[in-house]
Amino acid sequence: MAAMRFKKLGIALAFLFVDIPLVFAHTISMPKDMPSSYEAECASCHMAYPPGLLSRKSWQNVMSSLDAHFGADASIALKTREELTTWLVRNAATGKQFSEAAPQNRITTTAWFMREHRKVNAEVWRRSGVKSPSNCGACHMDAGGGVFHDTNVKVPTQ
Ligand code: HEC
Ligand code: HEC
Repeated sequence: MAAMRFKKLGIALAFLFVDIPLVFAHTISMPKDMPSSYEAECASCHMAYPPGLLSRKSWQNVMSSLDAHFGADASIALKTREELTTWLVRNAATGKQFSEAAPQNRITTTAWFMREHRKVNAEVWRRSGVKSPSNCGACHMDAGGGVFHDTNVKVPTQ
């Protein structure tokens, strides 16, 4: 009987550990020491993504290719680029789940992003109120505050 109980406990613990990254996924806030240049240089075309959404390596790649940035020219002064790269890398995702180097260095191509959004139909991403998966704030009501909990989501109907 005791062995049986241990086995059950083992299974319960296994589920607990599997769940931990999902719990972390709910809030990925902006670090309090965000340089003002981040808002100025990286939030005019899209939201200021919290650094914890992407791996160290991906941030390095993004920051070293700003002249050819997803079809846009997002070049900035060298000093600002160095300051922002240091800050992004220092606050990058660390958990095993988030620290993969994503294809195209996108948040939206990471395995965790695709898993969390597997129930969102392809048609939904193309709605005019959404436009792109990278437009987090279209559906996550407090994306700016780093809150991505599935209880705070409202998907535009068109
Ligand atoms: C001139 C406009 C512009 C500026 C300025 C800009 N970006 Fe972007 N960024 C884009 C576009 C366009 C995309 C692709 C959006 C899409 O596919 O929906 C993008 C995508 C991204 C993505 C990937 C989003 C995804 O799909 O997962 C990251 C990360 C990113 N930008 C970071 C930055 C950082 C860091 C800065 C500041 C150094 C910055 N961006 C400044 C235009 C810009
Ligand atoms: C088309 C609307 C839409 C967009 C755009 C979108 N999401 Fe989501 N997201 C959802 C929905 C819906 C869920 C809940 C999925 C479910 O319950 O199966 C979700 C779930 C999540 C979760 C898991 C939350 C939880 O409680 O487990 C995270 C983290 C997340 N999104 C991050 C992001 C980030 C970061 C972006 C932008 C790069 C983004 N999402 C863009 C609709 C969207």
